[in-house]
Amino acid sequence: MVIRSVIVGTGACLPERIVTNAEISRMIDTTDEWIVERTGIRQRHLAGDGEKTSDLALGAARNALAAAGVDGRDVDLIILATATPDQTFPATAAAVQRELGCVGIPAFDLQAVCSGFVYALTVADNFIKAGQARTALVIGAETFSRILDWTDRGTCVLFGDGAGAVVLKAEQGEGTTDDRGILTTHLHADGRQNDLLYVDGGPSSTGTTGHLRMHGREVFRHAVVNLAAVVQEALEATGLTSDDIDWLVPHQANKRILDGTAKKLGISPDKVVVTVDRHANTSAASIPLALAEAVADGRIQPGQLVLLEAMGGGFTWGSALVRM
Ligand code: UT7
Repeated sequence: MVIRSVIVGTGACLPERIVTNAEISRMIDTTDEWIVERTGIRQRHLAGDGEKTSDLALGAARNALAAAGVDGRDVDLIILATATPDQTFPATAAAVQRELGCVGIPAFDLQAVCSGFVYALTVADNFIKAGQARTALVIGAETFSRILDWTDRGTCVLFGDGAGAVVLKAEQGEGTTDDRGILTTHLHADGRQNDLLYVDGGPSSTGTTGHLRMHGREVFRHAVVNLAAVVQEALEATGLTSDDIDWLVPHQANKRILDGTAKKLGISPDKVVVTVDRHANTSAASIPLALAEAVADGRIQPGQLVLLEAMGGGFTWGSALVRM
């Protein structure tokens, strides 16, 4: 017998305000056609005045807890993946904890940008497998609109705000790939690629928050290669093949990257959960948002095999294979 971390609830939270490509094209020199053709993005949700990452995180957490039938006071670990915390410190996870009423348990933020959710899920899985947590809340939450340079058309059209969350519970498994829960996780980083996707500010460098900067074409090239490799790693570790996968839930950066990765793996496009058209790139929030959507609308069913993968600044990248 082994301990498995089973996803027992998923939840989403998006800001009310929707901004279409047409609206953005009235602000800067771009067009709906360019954005749709190059990225697949048609609209994004943007946080309203005063709406913080912790507000979105809390909304997603409450929805995930309700879906799981778990009381917030029974959570014994909170990990919040974000690159856009409310404050430099304390951790945004602590604000979520305060509102949920589970004071005293460990709660911390994790920073791996767009790979943040896969990183956080892996860390929570390891806490559970080590017997140090039994009911974990893993959240991806971002307000990227706050760190965008709204005069840089190469980046500001690409991102959106939102949050997604999952509740993990420790359950006994047989140690086979038929078990429910997280079956395998794989994480990587390559700090040599720091200057291809970064924020040009920070507490210890400029003393400012800074703005997102990206060499899109270079990031794109690395993404397709790294994602295919890290997915292959998950399949090899479990002895499964791409035919066994019911759903691919990728980080939503660009529809062309999603299509390219699915094609490389031989996964048919109707098995890929796509939200980038409506959410744009919400960094650490994109995978749990997509997962919550496909669970809520009944596409993802209990017992199905779901593959998560992400790549982001750092570079960081990772995958997780989960039986729902
Ligand atoms: O989540 C973390 C990971 N991030 C990613 O995975 C993002 C990866 N990269 C991408 O998704 C794509 O590289 C982008 C969508 C960012 C850009 O697409 P691209 O096909 O690589 O275009 P490009 O950057 O090479 O730019 C092509 C042209 C340029 O014009 P010239 O130099 O060819 O005349 C840009 O100035 O498109 C121009 N351009 C725009 N035109 C209209 C760039 N942004 C825009 C825009 N509207 N918003």
